[in-house]
Amino acid sequence: MRAKVRKAVFPAAGLGTRFLPATKAQPKEMLPIVDKPIIQYGVEEALQSGIRNIIMVTGRGKSAIEDHFDVSFELENLLETRGKKDLLAIVRGISDMIDISYVRQKEALGLGHAVLRAKELVGNEPFAVVLADDLIEARTPCLRQLLDVYASFDAPVLAVMEVPAEAISSYGAIDAEPVSYNGSNDRVYRIRDLVEKPEAPEAPSNLAIIGRYVLTPEIFASIESTDPGSGGEVQLTDALKHMLRSRPIYALRFEGKRYDAGDKLGFLEATVEFALRRKDLGGPFREYLKKLKL
Ligand code: G1P
Repeated sequence: MRAKVRKAVFPAAGLGTRFLPATKAQPKEMLPIVDKPIIQYGVEEALQSGIRNIIMVTGRGKSAIEDHFDVSFELENLLETRGKKDLLAIVRGISDMIDISYVRQKEALGLGHAVLRAKELVGNEPFAVVLADDLIEARTPCLRQLLDVYASFDAPVLAVMEVPAEAISSYGAIDAEPVSYNGSNDRVYRIRDLVEKPEAPEAPSNLAIIGRYVLTPEIFASIESTDPGSGGEVQLTDALKHMLRSRPIYALRFEGKRYDAGDKLGFLEATVEFALRRKDLGGPFREYLKKLKL
């Protein structure tokens, strides 16, 4: 029997230099899209995909993340005595539902290195990796879509999407051949090769890796034998390329819309679109936008 995916690893040790000065004294993962920290969207996606065991890989200056997912007695007490039941439910909800552990990445040595820090907590079972900066709005949560492919192929699966050719150098790119899945021939691919941040002319395709992965525990040994690559960092993409020699890896062109919340423009796009979709804000916010002389 195929092992169930119970755990999701959230690398969250990055320095957030792209959002300075906002991230000088607070983690970038805590920046809100409307009124919810970026990282909570990722945690909720994991929960909605059936995973409640969360492993955060954090670093110095990230204690706000731990506090956010912890019980806040003073706040809960205050809301209770003031009869603010709705807010109380919001504040309690998330910490009640997940089982969370933390491990530190002492130095920012790359995504591969961050995932390797979770080795002991993951143990010998398949697991998911969620890069919360990639915010994905989808009818079926993106991670759930990947888990379904994992269940069919019994092999690691990465999320991918098509990007404009000139944008591929910001991503990991795959060389892959389509395979049939659920009656379609253009959603799932068997990967032939992977390259981290290729220059556009050298890119094997315009299929970019997006921050959702379902991995098997062999990846840890693979990361251990991976040398630093792009940017002088130990790259998960390189470790996957290494693992490809011993087992097949698949990619899913997921259904849904991805926002790069780690980038200022992507962050603004997500903020505007999420606000427009909100029941309580959408109407008046739309009216306000219409009045702007653009
Ligand atoms: C990481 C991965 C890259 C992937 C990207 C998706 O890069 O290394 O392969 O395409 O996430 O967001 P980063 O954006 O952390 O440099």
